[in-house]
Amino acid sequence: MKTIEPCVLVIFGASGNLSRLKLIPALFRLDVAGRLPEKMAILGCSLEPWSNGQWIAEVSKMLQSKFADGIDEQAFERFSARLHYHANPPGNGEAYLRLKQVLEETPGFSPNTVFYMAVRPSAFPAIIDKLGVIGLLNQQRGWCRVVIEKPFGYDLLSAQTLQGSLYRHLNEPQIYRIDHYLGKGTVQNVIVFRFANILLEPIWNNHYIDHVQITHSETQGIAGRADYYEGAGALRDMIQSHLMQLLALVAMEPPVTLAAEHLRDEKVKVLQAIRPITQNSVHAHAFRGQYTNGIIDGKPVPAYVDEPGVAPDSATETYAALKLFIDNWRWAGVPFYLRTGKRMAENSSAICIRFKRPPQDLLRRMHQEHHEPSRPNWIMLGIQPNDSLKMELQVKVPGFDLTTRTISLDATYRKESEQEHDAYEGLLLDVMQGDHSLFLRIDEVEWAWRAVDPIIKVWAMERDFINGYHAGSWGPRGTYRLFDSDDQFWRHSLDPEGADLQAY
Ligand code: BG6
Repeated sequence: MKTIEPCVLVIFGASGNLSRLKLIPALFRLDVAGRLPEKMAILGCSLEPWSNGQWIAEVSKMLQSKFADGIDEQAFERFSARLHYHANPPGNGEAYLRLKQVLEETPGFSPNTVFYMAVRPSAFPAIIDKLGVIGLLNQQRGWCRVVIEKPFGYDLLSAQTLQGSLYRHLNEPQIYRIDHYLGKGTVQNVIVFRFANILLEPIWNNHYIDHVQITHSETQGIAGRADYYEGAGALRDMIQSHLMQLLALVAMEPPVTLAAEHLRDEKVKVLQAIRPITQNSVHAHAFRGQYTNGIIDGKPVPAYVDEPGVAPDSATETYAALKLFIDNWRWAGVPFYLRTGKRMAENSSAICIRFKRPPQDLLRRMHQEHHEPSRPNWIMLGIQPNDSLKMELQVKVPGFDLTTRTISLDATYRKESEQEHDAYEGLLLDVMQGDHSLFLRIDEVEWAWRAVDPIIKVWAMERDFINGYHAGSWGPRGTYRLFDSDDQFWRHSLDPEGADLQAY
């Protein structure tokens, strides 16, 4: 366990959703687990004119609604001793100077600072600029780190512009571009699974792998975030960031070490090798859809265009699927299918790897007699709702006849007594420890934008029509045209029985 130096964590947007649902609960749990340094303080910063006492009461409400089983009173008392608040009303030029004063003069505050930008992306540059101008980012008193939430820009050019504005006051090692998917246990397990098991390496390439599928589906809609989502859509919201990162981890070469730069160097090489999609080939490589009304958990839900804040003629995609090729030695010719959608049939994130069939089908006659196709092997890494690691193999059915069935070896790696932590817990610790391994370097962000930019451009021009899919279904039908061959299909279930299900 690395030691963590004391610091002050300043949360901009402390009263917002991210802070309520993720950051404050994660910090509380870290405190309960004894992982926060004794002299670490949390300074909430938001528009509301709250006193420290009001902020503590707000935090208590956040935790009560997050943890249904209630929270330990003593633990909360200890936690609240760390809590401070600074009102930062818009247009108040003095507010930043007062913040500086608070940081420099509050007794017991460490000179090390983390600024967490849990605000709308459009607000990042102005906040950084104000902090920079008054000297809060220059690391003269102690270290200073800035955490930037996704999306980092809305295309390549805007990401580069945003980067330019950060570099006026910060250097790269001070910047932590967060992608919370990298904090998920199973996602880190991809690295261990691949590189701690020699068994996999010989088959982890285009000789044996038919295709790779990376899926994130969720039943919730846009959860009141129309102002952000209308301008983002599924491609920017999930694929350019989270799913591209999963692709990079599955496809990268073994890094020299697991040190941040070695890891990120290898991820960048994969993103660089993604075959560019020309504007003419966008329709062959990408499919989008938008949910219409339907049923989720037995209850009717409205269409996307009927959600509050959404334009009635909106063409924003709530579903996106892509086919990508990685033009390098290992992956030449292997399609990587990525898909994501809101208001889908299930909450599920998984990486499913389908292997090729054996070179000669010795069981062909049996398959013909039973009108059964031969079934290929799969390796599947379930990220959520349950972290799992499954491998599907063919075995003989006991009895006199030579027939086969699919069994699933389930190597779910977490034992019942072992708790999984929320992604933000580990990532917050990493920032305080100065570990960049699970944060994005600017070139990763740029290459991911390069891959999706042509699609964004074409979709932005085609505003008159978008395919619909019913809320509660598995997405629009036409998405099947992305597949390279007839025996490829979206894998909706990680169980063998559900493998062939092509239900909508
Ligand atoms: C966020 C997206 O980054 O990830 C959301 O903005 C999405 O739209 C969320 O719902 C999914 O994260 P998780 O951890 O719930 O899978």
